[in-house]
Amino acid sequence: MEFADVLTRRASVRNFTEEKVPVDKLREMVRMAGTAPCIGGRETWSFIAVTNKELMRKMAEAVKMKYDGIIPAGGDHVTDNVRNAVESFSTIFLNAPAVIAVLSEPYTAVIDKVLEQTSYSHDDINKLRNHPDIQTIGAAIENLLLAAVDMGYGACWQTGPMVAKEELSKLLGVKEPYSLFAFVAVGKPAHEIKPRVKKPVGEMFSVIE
Ligand SMILES: Cc1cc2nc3c(=O)[nH]c(=O)nc-3n(C[C@H](O)[C@H](O)[C@H](O)COP(=O)(O)O)c2cc1C
Repeated sequence: MEFADVLTRRASVRNFTEEKVPVDKLREMVRMAGTAPCIGGRETWSFIAVTNKELMRKMAEAVKMKYDGIIPAGGDHVTDNVRNAVESFSTIFLNAPAVIAVLSEPYTAVIDKVLEQTSYSHDDINKLRNHPDIQTIGAAIENLLLAAVDMGYGACWQTGPMVAKEELSKLLGVKEPYSLFAFVAVGKPAHEIKPRVKKPVGEMFSVIE
């Protein structure tokens, strides 16, 4: 597919057919994700693909329980609607034949070597630099989404489930120094993909000459 077509055809897919995604296809999507730029040349990412439906059900249940705790039942009609919408938005990976968990390990920056002589910590510098660790993972995830489109699949980036990070990490066997950053649900789209109309370039671009 032409690169521009891959970009313009991508949209978040939340309904999938039951067709399985072969492991070699998932591996190829992850290989493409790993071509992304990364902070200080540190490829901090790691990926776990889950195709086991029983495990996915447990993961969705953990997410739902977490939101039930955050927005308790017994509130008004609006609150109940919000909780249901958020839970549905956060568990759509259950509709997919595969979900890829995206993990990251901490990175060390050149500046870290001299931080002891300063009043700044690694976390302070990371924050001042606008979280290059998170930006690195974002670059990899976008590559993954585009690779999925190019290979005839649909995908949805998900951070909603991360409220249950601790429980999900246990279910997935995530070990230090890695931590869970996001999910990407992957599969064949159940319906024709209709990309959203995006902001016109004139509204988001300016030039200083
Ligand atoms: C960081 C991030 C987190 C997201 N988390 C979720 C999520 O938890 N559940 C979901 O259904 N969509 C999620 N999305 C998808 C967005 O809702 C979607 O990208 C946005 O509405 C624009 O639509 P499009 O992807 O079809 O262009 C997420 C997207 C991003 C970039």
